Amino acid sequence: MDIAQQSGFDICPDMDLIYSQIQNTKSLAELGGGYGRCVDYLLSNHYKGHVYCVERAGSMVNYMRQHFESHASQIEIFHQDICDLKLPERVDAVLWLWSGILEQTKAEQRLCIARIKSCLNPKGILFIDTPHSELKVFGTKLDDHIIRVDTDWGSLEAYLPSSDEIKNIAEECGLLFEAIPYQTPTGLKRMMYQLQKMA
Ligand SMILES: C[S@@+](CC[C@H](N)C(=O)[O-])C[C@H]1O[C@@H](n2cnc3c(N)ncnc32)[C@H](O)[C@@H]1O
Repeated sequence: MDIAQQSGFDICPDMDLIYSQIQNTKSLAELGGGYGRCVDYLLSNHYKGHVYCVERAGSMVNYMRQHFESHASQIEIFHQDICDLKLPERVDAVLWLWSGILEQTKAEQRLCIARIKSCLNPKGILFIDTPHSELKVFGTKLDDHIIRVDTDWGSLEAYLPSSDEIKNIAEECGLLFEAIPYQTPTGLKRMMYQLQKMA
């Protein structure tokens, strides 16, 4: 939550950017729900569709299940790894926001996008958010792709895909590709990729 505040994600500029495209969907999935920032946004904006929220960390799953207890018929939290993504039905949109894709290796990113495609309805859209060019708040760029994040509990390495890499994966998977640059209120430069399944 602190990092969300420092980077300007607490007020959800990413969700503001894409909400007009998802507000009338019947169902969507969020990959890596964290503390429920995006689901909170959906509820605050009176989203009526069904939400499947996938999260690997048990502590986050428990937190979200409690936090969204009164919406349990609309919001389903799955303790699941994105790499083994399995949803009860195909969905109209998949949200993979706030750098979530960076936590996968380059090979996993490709495999996950192919798997996500099989979970989308025709014309369904996968939204992927990544940093664009520089990093300000969290992490150091070791080269064009590898980011090291030093925390109190150890170091993590993340893989930042380029626009061309995401575009290539989209083409290989037969998904339409669009990249929309935007900024957070704290001035972080971001890229929102939209990969759409054809009809
Ligand atoms: C940067 S947070 C983003 C949280 C939320 N999507 C948001 O935008 O506020 C990434 C989340 O993805 C989860 N995560 C990372 N790898 C995952 C995986 N392989 N399967 C499921 N969840 C994963 C992490 O535990 C973390 O909660």
